Amino acid sequence: MKTITFIGNGNMAFSIAEGLKNDYKIELVGRDINKLQEFENRLGVVVQKHLLENFNIESKTLLLCVKPANVVEVGEKLKGKADVLYSVLAGTSLEKLRSNIKTYAVVRTMPNLAASVQNSMTTLTGDIAYKDEAQKLLSSIGSVRWLSSEKEIDIATALAGSGPAYLALIAESLADGAVKQGLKRDDAMAIMRGLFSGFGDLIQEVHPALLKDGVMSPGGTTAAGYGALEDGNVRASCINAIEKAYKKATQL
Ligand SMILES: NC(=O)c1ccc[n+]([C@@H]2O[C@H](COP(=O)([O-])OP(=O)(O)OC[C@H]3O[C@@H](n4cnc5c(N)ncnc54)[C@H](OP(=O)(O)O)[C@@H]3O)[C@@H](O)[C@H]2O)c1
Repeated sequence: MKTITFIGNGNMAFSIAEGLKNDYKIELVGRDINKLQEFENRLGVVVQKHLLENFNIESKTLLLCVKPANVVEVGEKLKGKADVLYSVLAGTSLEKLRSNIKTYAVVRTMPNLAASVQNSMTTLTGDIAYKDEAQKLLSSIGSVRWLSSEKEIDIATALAGSGPAYLALIAESLADGAVKQGLKRDDAMAIMRGLFSGFGDLIQEVHPALLKDGVMSPGGTTAAGYGALEDGNVRASCINAIEKAYKKATQL
């Protein structure tokens, strides 16, 4: 079994290790031995545990799962040169990764919040030679999509990385609307969750425009509600949200 070396023992490392633990040996590198032990206990498989200070990354396959602000400090503590570095760090460029951690190849990946339920939409870019392995590793936490540039991963971050917040706003406000019309809060929340669950499956099969056409009968209730969303500029606001989030990502 191939070994994957996690640098960092937080939530993202745990979610990915959960998906990989049956097919790979897990090695875990962090700064607190008690947390490494706790990680192993929760994961329920044997984990090779090491402290960060002077850890030798020579010829290893690394999965970097620390915070973006820790890259310089972590890089200073490692020795040797890795075969490949897979990073999950938001907004951290290939150049910054390469200049702080010695490695022959780098792949940048961008999971989203749904990694915690093993259903992330993860985008990837970097050394093309590692495309297949990167996709295989990150599919352990959901869907993957390889992109051809860092510009594209920044745009995709505005869509899939920030997307859960945008959909949460829609989810909460639709439920609020139902409560405003007299539905009990518990019922409104349960119905909203069911709506998103079914919609999540449907949108895999049907183009959004056809979905909308399919449910909107002439002069009917959906058409009335849909008109209100257009009055509220929801479409333009969504397009604008992606632009603002992408621009912000390029300024970080
Ligand atoms: N969570 C998400 O949904 C999500 C989505 C996309 C991308 N990401 C990226 O995933 C990365 C990890 O996020 P997370 O949610 O797993 O965070 P987390 O649970 O807070 O874990 C952060 C890890 O970084 C370690 N760390 C913190 N400061 C350090 C330092 N100075 N030196 C060495 N290690 C240090 C922590 O070690 P200790 O345990 O010892 O404190 C911990 O293992 C982030 O870069 C984030 O951008 C996360």
